[in-house]
Amino acid sequence: MVFLNGSFLPIEEAKVPVLDRGFIFGDGVYELVPVYSRVPFRLDEHLGRLERSLAEVKIRNPHARAQWRDLLYRLVDAQPFDDQGLYLQVTRGVAKRDHSFPKGAEPTVFMMSNPLVTPPPELVEKGAAALTAQDNRWLRCDIKSISLVGNCLLRQLSADAGAAETILFRDGKLTEASASNVFVVKRGLILTPPKSHLILPGITYDVVVELAQANGLPLEFREVEEKEVRAADELWLTSSSKEVLAVVSLDGASVGDGRPGPVFARMYQLYQEFKQKVMRAGKREAVSA
Ligand SMILES: Cc1ncc(COP(=O)(O)O)c(C=O)c1O
Repeated sequence: MVFLNGSFLPIEEAKVPVLDRGFIFGDGVYELVPVYSRVPFRLDEHLGRLERSLAEVKIRNPHARAQWRDLLYRLVDAQPFDDQGLYLQVTRGVAKRDHSFPKGAEPTVFMMSNPLVTPPPELVEKGAAALTAQDNRWLRCDIKSISLVGNCLLRQLSADAGAAETILFRDGKLTEASASNVFVVKRGLILTPPKSHLILPGITYDVVVELAQANGLPLEFREVEEKEVRAADELWLTSSSKEVLAVVSLDGASVGDGRPGPVFARMYQLYQEFKQKVMRAGKREAVSA
């Protein structure tokens, strides 16, 4: 069961006109919310980011926050599995092809929820490989746009090499990875680039920052030079589906001693405990009447 423009229906029956601006221009935004034991994780933060993305690209938000929650809980409850990756997308709608915004088009809303795919335990334990590339995307990486051809091309570089991610540098500085944020550890200090138009403000990034701060792990937001990334003791990727994942090989060279480091082990444990706590609380914000 998926959701399209007000209806719940089987995916085979969900159809979008070819003139949808999402199809023609990639003119839309999206979110991916991890759902653990049917409890959406950090839902308000994801909906807040969706509202911001919509405002930045000037697409009318078709639902109030309480309505979004209501619809998405119904979708979660309609799935036969508990842990889900809930995808939602809003485009500017269907209109005759013209770059300028159409008048009166209704935004297209699509949501689906698939079984959640997180890294297998062996990968968490052994760590992942990553490649690096120049970040050649546009300068509004803070918007969660569905126009992802830049990210797809960059991701494919590491996919072709059998690696988990492509870590990106712009003007000699770390930005993020093709579908994750990046953290660096050097002599016990956790470093990550500050939020800006050059990176997506990750929801997992925020969780990791909060967990570090709440547990006395030193963390600094600052520009990180490419050479600091290459000389790091530890490198981590964070995203809603990867959670926190250690990178142990970068462009074929070992990161630190080539194994996930002690600060990663601590953060991974804190993250799992935090998830468990959220699931146990089973909290769902009030839905609309
Ligand atoms: C480019 C990019 N950066 C960072 C992230 C991590 O964001 P989040 O933690 O909200 O999943 C993603 C997630 O898809 C992404 O595509």
